[in-house]
Amino acid sequence: MKALIIKGSAAAIAALLTLHVQAQTVADWENPDVLGINKLPYHATLQLPSREKECKEIVSLDGQWLFHWSRNPEERPKDFWREDYDVSQWNKITVPGNWQTQGYGTPIYININYPFVKDRPKVTTEPPRDWTAYENRNPVGSYARLLDVTKEMLSQNLILHFGGVHSAFYVWVNGQRVGYSQNSMSPAEFDVTKYLREGRNKLAVEVYRWSDGSYLEDQDMWRLSGIFRSVQLWVRPLVHISDYRVTAVPNADYSEAAVRGTVFVCNTGRKAARNLSLAFTIDGKTMTYKVGKILPGDTIGIPVSHDISQPRLWSAEKPNLYPFSIDLGAEHFDYHLGVKKVEVVGEVFKINGKNVKLRGVNRHDHHPVTGRYVDDATYEQDIRLMKQANINFLRTSHYPDREYIYELCDRWGIYVMDEANHETHGYGYANHVMGEDLTFQRAHVDRAESLVKRDFNHPCVILWSLGNEGGVGPNIEAMYNKVRELDQTRPPFYDSDRRYSAIWDDSYLYPDDLRKNAQQVTDKPFMMREYAHAMGNSCGNLQEYWDVIYADSSICGAAIWDWVDQGLSLSPAPSPEGRGALGQKASPSGGGLEGAFLYGGDFGDKPNDGPFCINGLIAPDRKPHPHYYEVQKVYQPITFIREGNDIRLVNRDQFTALDEYDISYDTLRYDGETVLNVKAQLKEDKPWAEKGFTVAREQFVLKSYEFPAPTIPAKKVAATGITVEGNALTSWIVDGREILQAPLEPYFWKPENDNQNAAGFARRTAVWKDATDVTVKYTALSERSILVEVDYQPTSTNKPVMPKFGMRMRLPADYTNIRYYGRGPWENYPDRKQSALLGIYEMPLSDYETEYIHPQDNGNRCDVRWFEIKASPTGGGLEGAFRIDGCQPLCIRAWDYGEEDLETAKHPNEIRRGRFVNLNIDLNIHGVGGTDTWGKRTLPQYTIDGNKPHHYSFILSAEKKKE
Ligand code: GAL
Ligand code: MG
Repeated sequence: MKALIIKGSAAAIAALLTLHVQAQTVADWENPDVLGINKLPYHATLQLPSREKECKEIVSLDGQWLFHWSRNPEERPKDFWREDYDVSQWNKITVPGNWQTQGYGTPIYININYPFVKDRPKVTTEPPRDWTAYENRNPVGSYARLLDVTKEMLSQNLILHFGGVHSAFYVWVNGQRVGYSQNSMSPAEFDVTKYLREGRNKLAVEVYRWSDGSYLEDQDMWRLSGIFRSVQLWVRPLVHISDYRVTAVPNADYSEAAVRGTVFVCNTGRKAARNLSLAFTIDGKTMTYKVGKILPGDTIGIPVSHDISQPRLWSAEKPNLYPFSIDLGAEHFDYHLGVKKVEVVGEVFKINGKNVKLRGVNRHDHHPVTGRYVDDATYEQDIRLMKQANINFLRTSHYPDREYIYELCDRWGIYVMDEANHETHGYGYANHVMGEDLTFQRAHVDRAESLVKRDFNHPCVILWSLGNEGGVGPNIEAMYNKVRELDQTRPPFYDSDRRYSAIWDDSYLYPDDLRKNAQQVTDKPFMMREYAHAMGNSCGNLQEYWDVIYADSSICGAAIWDWVDQGLSLSPAPSPEGRGALGQKASPSGGGLEGAFLYGGDFGDKPNDGPFCINGLIAPDRKPHPHYYEVQKVYQPITFIREGNDIRLVNRDQFTALDEYDISYDTLRYDGETVLNVKAQLKEDKPWAEKGFTVAREQFVLKSYEFPAPTIPAKKVAATGITVEGNALTSWIVDGREILQAPLEPYFWKPENDNQNAAGFARRTAVWKDATDVTVKYTALSERSILVEVDYQPTSTNKPVMPKFGMRMRLPADYTNIRYYGRGPWENYPDRKQSALLGIYEMPLSDYETEYIHPQDNGNRCDVRWFEIKASPTGGGLEGAFRIDGCQPLCIRAWDYGEEDLETAKHPNEIRRGRFVNLNIDLNIHGVGGTDTWGKRTLPQYTIDGNKPHHYSFILSAEKKKE
């Protein structure tokens, strides 16, 4: 035995000793040097996720576990892992799942800042008293369950697999500590063979809400904890396939593809392994390879290869896959590969040699009930809805998702930017602190390595993202080098330190700045990894973006922020037993929030960023918002252009011919107006839509509508039943009944939407709460109709933009049936109406309104020719319709509440409804905006100049009750 001799001064030795003493007192979860203890190396997903059930190796440990929650590490049951510690009285919790969504502790929604005091690597420094983290300094979840093991299993290699645990955890088996892990969005595996025994075994897992790893997990999302992905026991032969990596790159003329792979086989037994052979089957051929001798403890790589001639290429448009299998005798795995080439050629991004456009969206892995765990059916629904919206690019913001979503993208065709679980935004965008702190370098690299190693074999991945809003400096360089070392077929991407990105990112630009900036960058392709911040009523000027993107071959695309509103539908307060909220809607005692989707602050979480997590194209329950349809239209792969009597089709796709669609048109006549509706439909069923699904459409007006002229009758009509006071029509009695519940009057104000709120709209335009410089003229046209003429002549200059130019009125509450001729059926605004075609639409008032999770202006319809609203047959009001005919196109909003009701509510259920029907009848309304929700404004062409005269007119009529 060698003796350890320390040479040096007494002081140096003393220093070493103190270091040692200190090291012992630092917990692993506040020590960036400890990323894991006894973790097995990361590796590729071995079996296609959809076929895991067929995998005899896997014993699922999902289901009910026993659970105990403590507010802080001191109060945790410190030795619950011991075999003699009685956990039988503990509550149950569902694995996979977050503990906050099951009634334990508090979900916190926060964007940029850390939810704990920033004092790295510590996460338990005392915060202000009102923070959630003050009382709950670092909650600990203690999980336990039993596990039966047979003698047969014990003769094999037993691996415990955790798909994802937030944020750091220890594992014990039968009272013995097995290991530790952080890096919460990637799998962690431990060899537990030597700890298990025949019969019953006790498995114990202790999870910490925060750890030093949380410094790299500062993503804008609900901060949730626990074992949120599946837990499995893999029962594997002693000699088994530990990993494999396969590439399939086509040659220069795409006539051949070289399939090249390495299969890693390890020997976990005590004897050398000999005479094994490995079979690789692909494209109807099986190649057999001799596996050399593997000594105990060793892993060897066996190269496999195959050439495919005339390969069918993989792309999002044509997701051709080649299934393959790997067989080691005792073990067999199935996967698939896609032949494709990803290249950056100068400033052009190419897939399979073509300048594809990435029509993208960002997506958080979010479910309103199960939080960070998203089930397979919801994944399928998400990818189906994306494909139906012509989205071809998904950024897994801001961490790797569960494996199955990548398989769906492989099969159904979505390009993926797979992102490492890395964000340090709390230190600032592109900060040097975390980019340069070398004590965190291994943690950075760990996240890049786990990303690439797990998802390597997915054809859908086209870019590896090093993270989001992280640091600048050597830690990023190290991540970049790791990605390059592991994969030469897909380039790295990064937003915060452009030296380490194959693509230049500049996000949330106005369309015009996108055009200019992209022209200036000449050495790399350009993209907006995030744009069109879809918070609330938004996504204006989407077409303007795509006009720019299609016009510049160096812009490879852009991804909307983001896919799904991160609202939670849970009990705002944990139930007294501290359990059972899973699957329940908000509790009736929870302050009137029953049925509501909750956002930051609704759980008393502090600090929080309120509704800033509600930015999706679809609601948490996956119901599309109106702007989902706008994305579908603007992202459609075909542009229809009218050229005289012809319609020219421009194909935006690269690998699909136009004759692969059924193209047809309809000529429709509405009230003298003739429109041509053109569409392209699927010729055959796809996994995400049936034959006949409309992929692209357009409308052309062939013969325009003849709006009624605002002509005053030569013979004056006796205006019985009408009372006018100043500019207002204060009473209109028809058939003995009062139609107006509140006067018809000029009204230029509208509540803000989220984009406008952030841009200080209400403050800037507050003068318009009073409609001034306006004259309204009312002329009776008949006993039952009135011509209304509104004239605005500014008497001063420097007025701000007008929220809207028009009028409002209130009808009795039972006028709830709407029929109109205008754009629809869904809500549309001047800057977001591409998808809303002209037509006659009929719907109840409740469908005319849009219920935003964070209440705001909504429900407008543009280019309205006429609009009818009537009481339901059982209602007490006038049964004939109340009708508005524009003398030019109108914008009309209809609500069963007033502006004030909307402006004071924080959730839809808080809106006071049903006292009247509020109608806004406008010439024009301020666009919704479409750039960001932190200050950028609606494009000028979609605003209303307050310094110019405006004029419009319409005819009101009260129809006779139909006999
Ligand atoms: C981006 C960020 C996203 C999200 C968004 C605002 O800058 O990358 O994570 O925070 O802003 O909703
Ligand atoms: Mg951020």
